[in-house]
Amino acid sequence: MSETQGLSTPNLLGIKGLTKSDVDLIHATAKEFKDVLNRPIKKVPSLRDFTVANLFFENSTRTRLSFELAEKRLSADVVNFSAAGSSVKKGETLVDTVNNILAMKVDMVVMRHPHPGAHQFLASKVDVPIVNAGDGTHEHPTQALLDTFSLREALGDDLTGKNIAIVGDIQHSRVALSNIEALKLLGVNVRVCGPETLIPKHLHSMGVEVSHDLDDTIRWADALNMLRIQLERQGPSDAVRFFPTLREYTMRFGLTLERLAQSDTPVVIMHPGPINRGVEISSEVADSEHAIILDQVENGVAVRMAVLYLLAQRKG
Ligand code: CP
Repeated sequence: MSETQGLSTPNLLGIKGLTKSDVDLIHATAKEFKDVLNRPIKKVPSLRDFTVANLFFENSTRTRLSFELAEKRLSADVVNFSAAGSSVKKGETLVDTVNNILAMKVDMVVMRHPHPGAHQFLASKVDVPIVNAGDGTHEHPTQALLDTFSLREALGDDLTGKNIAIVGDIQHSRVALSNIEALKLLGVNVRVCGPETLIPKHLHSMGVEVSHDLDDTIRWADALNMLRIQLERQGPSDAVRFFPTLREYTMRFGLTLERLAQSDTPVVIMHPGPINRGVEISSEVADSEHAIILDQVENGVAVRMAVLYLLAQRKG
């Protein structure tokens, strides 16, 4: 890999704290790894003799598999931990759990945790790089890095002045917060669109436009990042608390081909997954030529390879 200057940070705790140069470096490195992943032999020896622990205290499909594949493509040794079935259930603290894992000579920790700030806390207690794979409703930095990488592929490397909207449950979304931070670093005009009850008041202070009108937002946008309604973060039961019914949500904020047709220019459609087909996005849109949803998943491996590689370089 050809980078001359490394990352400005020893951990990836969030997009907040990264510089534009960090994002550019991660994307340039990911581009090189994407070329590797398209070769018949998809593996490089960059992290040989390096061990990564993946600690998942919350459910995941894409992020967990993507990190594991990224680590294996870099020739790292990998250990996987999930809270279910572990001694966390017997009352062990996070720091004790991690210190026990590190005592087995682990060089880096990738962690998903339900509590915002868990990674920050852990980074202050241990001496290996910590990578945030999602912390509650706070940040999901590798998702934002792969989303912006995919947008650069779709709309061109310079995103300055492009109009990108994030639609849906902004209030409970770590993807939204990390995307806003990353898009602002890249000079994008960012709009959030959703019900009044699912948009936090403080977003204005981040220089973000707010809309409650999906049709207007479709006409404004070069790309739409559609988010899932996070019922699991809305309270102790699965009852809908922030809008009358899912059906009404879909009528106001569900993306269909008919709605998309209002735009005079092509609109790139993104979704971090998991998708709720027929709620925030119709199957016809999700499976259409407008959607880059599976490109996002493909790019996730290359972007995570870049993050792991650059943090390991910095440590080394
Ligand atoms: N996008 C995302 O974080 O998906 P998972 O929850 O499946 O990892």
